[in-house]
Amino acid sequence: MSEIGTMTGSGEDTSGSTVLQATDLHRDYSVSRGVFRGHATLKAVAGASFSLQAGRTLAVVGESGCGKSTLARMVTMIEKPTSGSLQLDGTEVTTADAATLKRLRPTVQMVFQDPYGSLNPRKQIGQILEEPLEINTPLNAATRRESAQAMLAHVGLRPEHYSRYPHMFSGGQRQRIAIARALMLRPKIVVADEPVSALDVSIRAQVLNLLMDLQAELDLAYMFISHDLSVVRHIADNVMVMYLGRPVEQGTKETVFTQARHPYTQVLLAATPSVDPQARSKRMTVKGELPSPIDPPPGCAFHRRCPFATERCAQERPELRPVEGRLVACHYAETTV
Ligand SMILES: Nc1ncnc2c1ncn2[C@@H]1O[C@H](COP(=O)(O)OP(=O)(O)OP(=O)(O)O)[C@@H](O)[C@H]1O
Ligand SMILES: [Mg+2]
Repeated sequence: MSEIGTMTGSGEDTSGSTVLQATDLHRDYSVSRGVFRGHATLKAVAGASFSLQAGRTLAVVGESGCGKSTLARMVTMIEKPTSGSLQLDGTEVTTADAATLKRLRPTVQMVFQDPYGSLNPRKQIGQILEEPLEINTPLNAATRRESAQAMLAHVGLRPEHYSRYPHMFSGGQRQRIAIARALMLRPKIVVADEPVSALDVSIRAQVLNLLMDLQAELDLAYMFISHDLSVVRHIADNVMVMYLGRPVEQGTKETVFTQARHPYTQVLLAATPSVDPQARSKRMTVKGELPSPIDPPPGCAFHRRCPFATERCAQERPELRPVEGRLVACHYAETTV
């Protein structure tokens, strides 16, 4: 458990009971390189350690393809880590037998980006909400119905919505239904993968506020995935910035957002005007494309795009280390501000 010590030492806010502890999680995929070139290993997540606390939100941010959804699939037990440890509510998941996994499954639920694709169009909302109870609990039909109706009210929908179909709702309402469904089994952890990105800007705040109200009420731990730092600023307690499968900066939102130490975090902040005017004034821009995770650059994966890179960055990969109250993977973290 030394990892927890390190994280706490790093300044990450770990108050509240720990409901998830991930240590050095890796997920590799074998991908074809074409007929003549055989297969290669793609490291979608290459060493992520973090924890989730009851009543707290960890935001996972980074460019498309940096491994956010892969991380979400491991945390929700949809996919097994290639290596590393994942403890849910104190139980190790990676070595658990089928019965233990079945018991743990209700503990963590997921809300997806697309509220259109994630709800079965042929089922009434009531059925959609009751399905998890039917599969996972011995509750009878009357109790299931009662529970679904109570949950509708909880997420700001009306009793008559119970017998309507998904196509009869707006995007925001559908996301409320998806949130309601995720909560039916009283999970301790909710993983939300870009939950408001597909929504109209005008209703994003409503859905975010709903998520925050539910968190306070039910003491939920959130893993909140978003590429939009202005959304993250609204909802996060802790932040983990990922680049090409690896966390490059981790700490409290206040620490990371007000004085980012990793050049990549600084670039992300500079691209989000509403977050940090100081960062914006530096006018940092990122050079070049995101490298391929099949063939990552040697040394620091960010060095070819980094305005501060030196010869050392091209050769030696920086490990995460504590610098001024956060963890950061940069050789020059002390001098990048
Ligand atoms: N099943 C798979 N097989 C092969 N490669 C995969 C698979 N799933 C993901 N990848 C690759 O792993 C890397 C990480 O993908 P992931 O979907 O986790 O990124 P992401 O951060 O969620 O991106 P986005 O912001 O676009 O949703 C990408 O390079 C992706 O192509
Ligand atoms: Mg994704």
